[in-house]
Formats: sequence, structure tokens, C-alpha cells
Amino acid sequence: MLDQKSHCDLNYKYHPMKNKLTLAAFAAAFAVSTASAQDGGVDFEKQILPILKQKCFKCHEKEKEDNGKIKKPKGGLRLDNAEAIMKGGKEYPAENVVAGKPDASWMLKTMALPESDEFAMPPEGKGDRVTAEEQALVKKWIESGAAFGAWKGVE
Ligand code: HEC
Repeated sequence: MLDQKSHCDLNYKYHPMKNKLTLAAFAAAFAVSTASAQDGGVDFEKQILPILKQKCFKCHEKEKEDNGKIKKPKGGLRLDNAEAIMKGGKEYPAENVVAGKPDASWMLKTMALPESDEFAMPPEGKGDRVTAEEQALVKKWIESGAAFGAWKGVE
């Protein structure tokens, strides 16, 4: 360690430019590594699932009985199961979540529409809007590959 330090000091004294460049290269490498850690850092179960639970599950859960009536998931879309999320619904099969492509993913696109739009989710007056922060998280999750970790959801 001592040797290395004196080597550095020498560089600094006699090659100030070289020292600067090394620092710049180090800073660049650091920036790249933190950026990729952040991109891949969205945890579906901790950060995305609560949004879906709170704002989408009511209408996009596994078929269930409600007051003696069978309630089917709206649009044939279940958001309470990992495979079903990737499978999508009736109108946009396989395009509910397209890994790596937020712009092609209807789960995100419908959230981002203004409430008055007929395709907006939740539908107008039928639930809390998904906030900009929440949308940003979903976007990041899709961009970074839409991984579910160990979560499989309701069978
Ligand atoms: C109050 C009920 C309700 C809630 C809450 C709701 N949806 Fe929907 N959703 C619907 C209905 C009804 C449809 C069927 C489309 C239609 O017929 O208008 C639908 C369809 C969809 C579709 C299209 C599926 C397909 O492929 O046909 C997507 C995507 C979607 N919803 C996403 C969401 C997301 C994401 C949330 C939560 C942010 C959400 N929905 C919350 C009622 C709801």
C-alpha cells in the first residue's frame, strides 16, 4: 500500500495530466456501474406489485365469486400472476408487458393515458390514478427486462 501511494504521489508530481485522466476514467466507470445497478434495481414484488394490488387487482384478478356471482377478470387480463401478466388480455395478447419495451407495453400505456381517455386504466372514476412516480417505476422495471424474481402470484 505504501509503495502504491508513493507511486501515485510521483505521478501527481511529474505527470499531472496522467493523474487527471485516471481520475476521469475512474469517474466514468463509476457512473456506468451505478446507472446499471439502478436500472436493474426495481424489485417487482416490493415496488410494482403494491401498485397493481392497490389500483388494478379489483378488476384484473383471477375469476372469483362475489355475492354469488362469478366475477371474471376484465378484458381477460389477470395482473395477479406473473405468467398472466406476460400473456396479456383479449385485445393485446403478449403486449401487456413487452420486456425491454415500455412503449409497447399496454399495462404502462393505459396507466399513462389521461383519465378521460376511453382506454385509460383504471377507467374514469373507477379508481385512483397511477402517479407519475409509480409510472416511472413500472417503466424502469419493463426497460430493465421485466423480471419477477421469485414471485409467481396466484395460481
Ligand atoms: C374498475 C375496473 C378496472 C380497474 C380498477 C382496472 N381496469 Fe383495466 N380493464 C377494465 C376493463 C372493463 C377492461 C376491458 C376493456 C374494455 O372493455 O374497455 C380493462 C382492460 C385492460 C387492459 C387491456 C387488456 C386486453 O388485452 O384486452 C389493460 C392493459 C388494463 N386493463 C390494464 C389495467 C391496469 C394496469 C390497471 C391498474 C392501473 C387496471 N387495468 C385497472 C377495468 C378495470
